[in-house]
Amino acid sequence: LPSWKIRTAVEPDLAHVLALWKTAGSSATAGETPGGLAGLLAHDPNALLVADLDGIVIGSLIVGWDGWRGSFYRLAVHPKHRRRGVAISLLRSGEQRLRDLNASRLTAIVLDEDSVAMSFWGALGYERQRHRARFVRHADAKSSHFPLDLR
Ligand SMILES: CC(C)(COP(=O)(O)OP(=O)(O)OC[C@H]1O[C@@H](n2cnc3c(N)ncnc32)[C@H](O)[C@@H]1OP(=O)(O)O)[C@@H](O)C(=O)NCCC(=O)NCCS
Repeated sequence: LPSWKIRTAVEPDLAHVLALWKTAGSSATAGETPGGLAGLLAHDPNALLVADLDGIVIGSLIVGWDGWRGSFYRLAVHPKHRRRGVAISLLRSGEQRLRDLNASRLTAIVLDEDSVAMSFWGALGYERQRHRARFVRHADAKSSHFPLDLR
């Protein structure tokens, strides 16, 4: 049996999760602040899973459900604890949560050049989608608004 347990993150975990992301070398994205993570939990208290080894956060996964699709973000495992199945445990727990919510399609965004992450998702039964592009728009950094008068 694994010596870690997968549980839902609570507020005191958030600083540890942010530190883990730095140590794990996962690519920085928007919302990666204590306030951003607190906002996630305020929106959905079950959205952030952590792998807990004797009270230390060694892994994380955001499990998003918007009523339409299930989405995984920020899968990360501390470098000292890799290749022991921590990420598999996180993902299987996240899948269980989404199954309970009746999600029928689960997705993850992976960087093209990240061969480790590519191997992970491929090994876990996820297929790379072809012929699709992702369009992204970022809020203005100062106002947090999306200006509407672009044209
Ligand atoms: C990707 C990551 C989360 C995997 O965590 P992990 O706990 O070591 O993964 P697991 O032990 O559960 O591995 C499960 C399977 O994934 C694949 N895998 C994991 N790491 C791999 C590696 N370095 N090279 C090739 N395949 C790998 C293997 O198939 C592995 O099964 P195996 O060990 O029986 O061969 C971890 O390497 C990490 O945090 N990387 C940095 C952040 C990142 O890239 N996150 C993914 C964003 S999409």
